[in-house]
Amino acid sequence: MSERKKITLPDLFKKVEQGKPITMLTCYDYPTAYFQEEAGIDMILVGDSLGMTMLGYDGTLPVTMNDMIRHTQAVRRGAPTAWLIGDMPYMSYQISVEEAIRNAGRFMAEAHTDAVKLEGGAEMADRVDGIAAAGIPVMGHLGLTPQSVSSLGGFRLQGKGALQAKKILDDAKALEKAGAYAVLLELVPDRVCQLITERANDCIIISLGSGPLAHGQLLIYHDMFGLYPKFKPRMAKVYGNAGEVILDGLKRYAEEVQEEVFPAQEHYFGMKDKEFEELLEMLD
Ligand code: KIV
Repeated sequence: MSERKKITLPDLFKKVEQGKPITMLTCYDYPTAYFQEEAGIDMILVGDSLGMTMLGYDGTLPVTMNDMIRHTQAVRRGAPTAWLIGDMPYMSYQISVEEAIRNAGRFMAEAHTDAVKLEGGAEMADRVDGIAAAGIPVMGHLGLTPQSVSSLGGFRLQGKGALQAKKILDDAKALEKAGAYAVLLELVPDRVCQLITERANDCIIISLGSGPLAHGQLLIYHDMFGLYPKFKPRMAKVYGNAGEVILDGLKRYAEEVQEEVFPAQEHYFGMKDKEFEELLEMLD
């Protein structure tokens, strides 16, 4: 287990001040969290994308608070020092400020997160304000917001036109003013991301497919390692094809069992002759 000290909000702002990019990844389970902690990743998001990557749904809407809490608890056990963010699932914060605070509180109390994330701009400012006033750090999420994919017209670049880009800039400011400590920009043009980063006073800007000019970068873990066979977004860099390695191993295992190559002697345990003979006698 790593010797790292617990990452705090002042640590993250210090990195921003020093111009050191923040690393952030999604994570949904204990073994992956263990590796991300060992690799020294600063921020871990337990995204509601687990609906697709872990539960096999087509989107994020069916994901419940209980799904999120269960996975977040496992991630916290594997990554005790990372800055851990729980992603608020569909309808856990949209209905009212009270619901938003209650569910954000569940992440903190039951899964020991450091923060929560929710999607939406100025229209969510009262939720952000309420959660932040309850003492819970909250990250906003703008650009491509998967919970609204139906109204956004699909998984595509947001803010290409000046008018839509201006709205994203205004939304980022509204979230910051409401008390968001960070804003994630997903799939917006690099220059829009740059403008938002330059205009942020007290807010950490994280880019997901929005270019290098942010305070930090996020990737979806499953995209990095070829673990989500249905789809590979262009913004994802593949650092290794674990999916291929796993599939190859599974096929070899199936073959070796059929051909009686597995198990070999080193994979099981024997018994002393004397004990075995005694056993046979008992059976007679
Ligand atoms: O659920 C998730 O993983 C997310 C990312 C797409 C940012 O919200």
